[in-house]
Amino acid sequence: IPNDLEKINLEYACDNKYLRRKARIHFEKMAKQAKLEGYNIIAVSTYRSYYYQYKLYNNYVKEKGIHYADMASARAGHSEHQTGLAVDIADLSLDYDNFESTKEFNWIKKNAHKYGFILRYPKAKFHITGFKYEPWHYRYVGINLATYIYKNNLTLEEYKLINTR
Ligand code: DAL
Ligand code: ZN
Repeated sequence: IPNDLEKINLEYACDNKYLRRKARIHFEKMAKQAKLEGYNIIAVSTYRSYYYQYKLYNNYVKEKGIHYADMASARAGHSEHQTGLAVDIADLSLDYDNFESTKEFNWIKKNAHKYGFILRYPKAKFHITGFKYEPWHYRYVGINLATYIYKNNLTLEEYKLINTR
């Protein structure tokens, strides 16, 4: 459990939602700028405890089977939501499943890196990330790294591979 979890301003979250301090600050900056430009960026899922992820994953298994569950949900102890650095985003509908078709998605696609966030599970990178495309899931990595990853069209896995050789 991170020791610097902070509550996101309710203007930009669907409920009481928590991220680690730096991620919270940059998320709010991003959502504030988006709002100024007419877009509503809302955090719908942020920090999750080990136990919450345990229940979530098991629900997927129960409803859709283990094969699908492992493409859509991390197992308990393996989700980056547990780090307090990941946020699932939606527009005002709060329906993150349809986030890809919103104008907010179009905005965030081009701007998330300026605030230190990366689209963590991009389309057509399943063979690298191990998770299916999630247009709603963003991970805070800091502005420099996010910009590098964005400009080079990488995933975090590819970046780590290149840099640990
Ligand atoms: N849906 C993402 C992969 C997670 O469960 O952390
Ligand atoms: Zn997520």
